Amino acid sequence: MATVSGVAATEAPKIVWNERDKRFETEDKKAYLEYELRNGGKVMDITHTFVPSSKRGLGLASHLSVAAFNHAQSNKLSVIPTCSYISDTFVPRNPAWKSVLFSEDLKSSI
Ligand code: COA
Repeated sequence: MATVSGVAATEAPKIVWNERDKRFETEDKKAYLEYELRNGGKVMDITHTFVPSSKRGLGLASHLSVAAFNHAQSNKLSVIPTCSYISDTFVPRNPAWKSVLFSEDLKSSI
C-alpha cells in the first residue's frame, strides 16, 4: 500500500477503529468520532464528532460517520445520533442509514 503523505483530495482518507477509546479516527488521530456502547453493547450512541478547523468542509466527518455506521451495521448494532452532525447533517444527507438508527428521534441526555 502506498504510504505517501499529501493524499489526493479525491482519495478516501484511512479511518481506523480505536476499540479501546471507542473512536473512529484518522491515522493521525486529529479527526475523530466518539461513541458510547449502551444496552449491553447492542447500541452505539455517537456522542461527538470532531474535525480540525483547517480540514472542515471536505467530507472528513462524513468518512468517519460511514466507518461508524458500517461497523454498526456489520455488528448488528443500532445507532443513537446524539451528535448533531450525525442527526442534522449526515443522516439527512444519507437517508439509507436511517435503517440503522435505534430511533430517529431518540438522543441520549449527554
Ligand atoms: N451540527 C450539524 N451539522 C454541522 C455542524 C454541527 N455542529 N457543523 C457543521 N455541520 C455541517 C455543515 O452544515 C456542513 O455543511 P456544508 O458542507 O453544506 O457546509 C457539513 O457539516 C460539512 O460536512 P463534512 O465536510 O462531512 O464535515 P466536516 O469534516 O467539516 O466536520 C464537524 C463537521 C461538525 C465534525 C466539524 O465542523 C467540527 O469538528 N465542529 C466542531 C465540533 C462539533 O460541533 N461537532 C458536532 C457536534 S458533536
